[in-house]
Amino acid sequence: MADPDRFLTVADFEAAAAARMDAAAWDYYAGGAGNEHTIADNRHAWDRIRLRPRVLVDVSERNLSITVLGTRLAHPIVVAPTAAHGLAHEDAERATARGAAAADALYVLSTISTVPMETVAETPLGAPRWFQLYAPEDRTTCRDLVDRAVAAGYGGIVVTVDLPMPGNRERDRRNRFTVPLGVHLPADQPTGETGLVVLPTWTWSDLEWLRSVCPIPLIAKGILRSDDAERAFQAGCDGIWVSNHGGRQLDTSVTATAGLPEIADAVGGRTVIVADGGVRRGVDALKALALGADLVAVGRPVLWGLAVSGAVGVARVLEILRDELSLAMALAGCRTLDEITPDLLAST
Ligand SMILES: Cc1cc2nc3c(=O)[nH]c(=O)nc-3n(C[C@H](O)[C@H](O)[C@H](O)COP(=O)(O)O)c2cc1C
Repeated sequence: MADPDRFLTVADFEAAAAARMDAAAWDYYAGGAGNEHTIADNRHAWDRIRLRPRVLVDVSERNLSITVLGTRLAHPIVVAPTAAHGLAHEDAERATARGAAAADALYVLSTISTVPMETVAETPLGAPRWFQLYAPEDRTTCRDLVDRAVAAGYGGIVVTVDLPMPGNRERDRRNRFTVPLGVHLPADQPTGETGLVVLPTWTWSDLEWLRSVCPIPLIAKGILRSDDAERAFQAGCDGIWVSNHGGRQLDTSVTATAGLPEIADAVGGRTVIVADGGVRRGVDALKALALGADLVAVGRPVLWGLAVSGAVGVARVLEILRDELSLAMALAGCRTLDEITPDLLAST
């Protein structure tokens, strides 16, 4: 097993994971839709933003904690929901859950998981977790998943709204790769060519219905426009997750850097805003927070940590990002997350 303590950056984990994973599983994790323009944009959009640091602030103590929807979190770095962790490690989502808890990070468990949500909820018991829902058309099945998540102690339901049908994932099609459906959906759930769920009939009225049967906070994931954010808020959502699904759905969709300002303007302060896509450095997270996010999520980096060394790797990836964010805050003159404001961003 590789020693993750030797790894300094998230990119170190990427290289090590690529070297050890099965090629088709790697392509499933790494790949996106079409020409993968959005994947490239996600990465470069953070790099293009320049910062205007404040100086002569006593930053000897920094506090990265935040209370979100009633839960106190030690820092704002979140594990985004990603499917099929069994492809990366034999302990699958159990290892991810242990690693996230060790790094004090909120873990959002995917519907498409290798391990049941009740098992994940106990590893260890009481760590902060939300459950991501691919809402099955059948309302009884859908409600059953919500009820199970509530009973198992999940603190929020993240309903993914940007996947009416899977994007054109050409790497998977070329590899004839089929994504395992996981343990939560019934075996007759409609799926596309590569095994991904198909949910084309879901609309705003279904979201309103889901709100009416979901007794815990509800977060809509995959929103990129302020009018959709407003509509999700009006439907009763407590959170908006600004995301293009890691470039895996509509190629050439805008990035979170483009969506965040208008969405923060529309619903910031009224709902929790989560952002993701291409975050690989703590300074990327600082920029997301300055653009109006309350929480910043990472998808692939966690999978890289998992593939390299299970729970230890997951924890290390998250700790690297947390520590880089803390340093970036110091160097930008910020002692708390509240002090990470839009004036830190250069306009060009
Ligand atoms: C391999 C993989 C599987 C994913 N599975 C899901 C999923 O089951 N549900 C979901 O809402 N998003 C899923 N996503 C999207 C992530 O939640 C997240 O939006 C994205 O990975 C963020 O971009 P990043 O990987 O560049 O950090 C998946 C992403 C990847 C890379």
